[in-house]
Amino acid sequence: MKQDEYWNSVSEKKEFTTPFQAEAFSRFVKRDNRILDIGCGYGRTLDELYHNGYRNLIGLDFSSGMIERGKQQFPYLDLRVKENDTIALPDKSVDAVILFAVLTCIHTNKKQEQLLEEIKRVLKPEGILYVNDFLLNTDERNLSRYEKFKEVYGIYGIFELPEGAVCRHHDEAWIKQLLKDFSELEYSHLTFTTMNGHKSNGFYFIGKLDNV
Ligand SMILES: C[S@@+](CC[C@H](N)C(=O)[O-])C[C@H]1O[C@@H](n2cnc3c(N)ncnc32)[C@H](O)[C@@H]1O
Repeated sequence: MKQDEYWNSVSEKKEFTTPFQAEAFSRFVKRDNRILDIGCGYGRTLDELYHNGYRNLIGLDFSSGMIERGKQQFPYLDLRVKENDTIALPDKSVDAVILFAVLTCIHTNKKQEQLLEEIKRVLKPEGILYVNDFLLNTDERNLSRYEKFKEVYGIYGIFELPEGAVCRHHDEAWIKQLLKDFSELEYSHLTFTTMNGHKSNGFYFIGKLDNV
């Protein structure tokens, strides 16, 4: 199944849950800063930002179903369909990027790196990146699916859900490598409840773009 088709098929049903650390975010991002939420889903994080006084907000998601739901639910938000692998915004045009539970949907190293390159292109110098995502787990259910799908995808931590999504739980060393051009401002381990109601290891990271 193509992954945008999967996300469209669940766009009316799923509730996303990874928490937004409002207090930490407000220490690094001002209320009038331009903030881009990539893979924004139906816009629940942008809505939380809106209610925290942020107004310069854009959301992008490759699922037109998610964007439609968001427009219905939060008509005051600027939500747009992301048409391809590029971000349709100029270089150095946003102060902060949010990436919540999106890496988990992009399973190859190469595609994740391409997205990070685009994020670095659109961020202003010393721009802020706030990521949260899933880390590897050690329970039996996860171990068996990591083993099973390692044969198929070549990376430990990638697995298919029965309904068609391909997901990834990350080795922490890979996350550090992926985010290497950002100076760490905050990094914490968290336990997330997944969109399917299970518990999973996760992290959040807030970093500042280095001059590279
Ligand atoms: C688990 S949901 C999280 C949504 C949102 N970030 C949140 O936390 O509420 C992942 C979202 O990423 C979107 N997505 C996955 N891969 C993407 C890609 N390559 N480009 C843009 N959006 C993507 C999906 O359509 C889905 O809405």
